[in-house]
Amino acid sequence: MAQSTGPKKIKCAVFISGTGTNLKSLIQFSKKKNSPISINLIISDNSKAKGLKFGKIYKISNKVFNYKNKIIAEKKMISEIKNKNIKFICLAGFMKILSKKFIRNFDGKILNIHPSLLPKYKGLNTHQRAISNGEKYSGCTVHFVNSKLDSGKIILQKKIKISKRDTAKSLAKKILAQEHKLYPKAIRKVFNL
Ligand code: GRF
Repeated sequence: MAQSTGPKKIKCAVFISGTGTNLKSLIQFSKKKNSPISINLIISDNSKAKGLKFGKIYKISNKVFNYKNKIIAEKKMISEIKNKNIKFICLAGFMKILSKKFIRNFDGKILNIHPSLLPKYKGLNTHQRAISNGEKYSGCTVHFVNSKLDSGKIILQKKIKISKRDTAKSLAKKILAQEHKLYPKAIRKVFNL
């Protein structure tokens, strides 16, 4: 049976490239009665993304787009999203950079979660960079996506203390657990719910 969306929920697509733990937490959030969103599509650039299994588990359609040709991939993605009447996009560990054209199509309707306290540590390898710089704190940020990498308006952040014993791996684990709480909170904030 297809997921019941309820009349008022805003249809969302989640984009992933990897494990999909944020996807899982967003799906669980979307199923709450008072959640503002439903998740109706999972998009990936990677057919081996482990997170695709959540599409099967929760019966949400999965689509993989081959990024060898980014222009064609994005065209297909846009038509899939529009055909499904999807109004909102959550990037959750999506490792490709969306083109300006794609972003313009969904202006103000794309969110991303990033594992640092933006504007610090944009891009990759955030945890190691924060530790190597001797930072006392790191964290995660949910922000709107604009055409500059990790630079759109910040919606919410969660600050996490870096302990002396932290490695990039242990810090990533601590932050990821907070990401799972922060993303739903940020979505509620966007929709005032
Ligand atoms: C998260 O740390 C997220 O902040 C970053 O990529 C990671 C994705 O993890 N953008 P998962 O696939 O949701 O488990």
